[in-house]
Amino acid sequence: MTVFARIVGTGSYLPEKVVTNDDLAKIVETNDEWIVSRTGIRERHYAADHESASDLALIASQHAMVAAHVTASEIDLIIVATSTPDMVFPATACILQDKLGVKQSIAFDVQAVCAGFVYALATAEKFIKTGASKCALVVGAEVFSRIMDFTDRGTCVLFGDGAGAVVLKASETPGILSTHLHADGSYRGMLCTPGTVENGKVRGDPFLKMDGAGVYKFAVKAFEDVAWEALNANNMKPREIDWFVCHQANRRIIMHAAKKLALPDEKVVVTVDRHGNTSAASVPLALDTSVHEGKIKSGDTVLLAALGGGFAWGAALLTW
Ligand code: UT7
Repeated sequence: MTVFARIVGTGSYLPEKVVTNDDLAKIVETNDEWIVSRTGIRERHYAADHESASDLALIASQHAMVAAHVTASEIDLIIVATSTPDMVFPATACILQDKLGVKQSIAFDVQAVCAGFVYALATAEKFIKTGASKCALVVGAEVFSRIMDFTDRGTCVLFGDGAGAVVLKASETPGILSTHLHADGSYRGMLCTPGTVENGKVRGDPFLKMDGAGVYKFAVKAFEDVAWEALNANNMKPREIDWFVCHQANRRIIMHAAKKLALPDEKVVVTVDRHGNTSAASVPLALDTSVHEGKIKSGDTVLLAALGGGFAWGAALLTW
């Protein structure tokens, strides 16, 4: 009997504070027209000072667990994808485990920046397929506002905070059909936050740096290639995709990838206008938003794709 990993519930959380493009235009030389036309972003959310990634993850996870009809005692694996963890260690997943009241589960973080959720989902799928987990919580949670350089208009307008979560269970019916992960560290300087903590001080630059045009060029090709890889692995054609849930960094990149797959606009999930780029949280946030809007329904074929610093990128094809 084939065992599949199946998403049985989704949840998300966006912090209360909404920051519009006009708000940012008050602190950096930018304007709503530039941001909307180049990225599609209209607003993003910022965490309050007292909120950390695990706090955002907690609420998203609680929503996902309610949707999945799962209690804390059933969760045996927690994976948190984040590049903005609460602390150097322990893992944000361990902090989340405690806050959720989950006992005895495996808990660890995955660091693949904006591809983190797809990496975490692929990892959890392997645990479920091997029988090592029966019920997994997979979360993307970020507070990227904390690593923004608010003097750099090329990056600070792009990112936001949030969290998304899914509960995965072992199932006899699909489920995740396949996952496809890639990385190429030779591009690591193109998108990075190069600072670290050493001897009680920050060493290096603790703010996000990006060669936007370079990332853009790589991303459009990577999304197209990894989408075809997922489709070919399942002998499927693009027309069989019901929903394309791409990493929400830039509307132009998403629509470019969709066009390469000849997907009509109606099949493309876009939440970047409301969320900005929330890194590892972007895909599960977009998923949960689409479920709540009544778009993604049982039986639909969903293609997830994400790319981030590293570069690390990947895709997952699934039956909802
Ligand atoms: O999540 C990880 C993956 N990240 C991504 O996928 C991001 C990929 N890259 C992008 O989305 C785009 O490259 C950006 C949105 C970052 C930039 O768009 P672009 O069309 O590539 O613009 P650009 O960087 O080539 O800049 C064009 C102009 C420049 O002015 P000059 O040199 O032509 O005079 C910039 O200085 O736009 C200027 N500019 C801005 N103007 C107003 C850059 N940022 C801003 C801004 N407001 N916020």
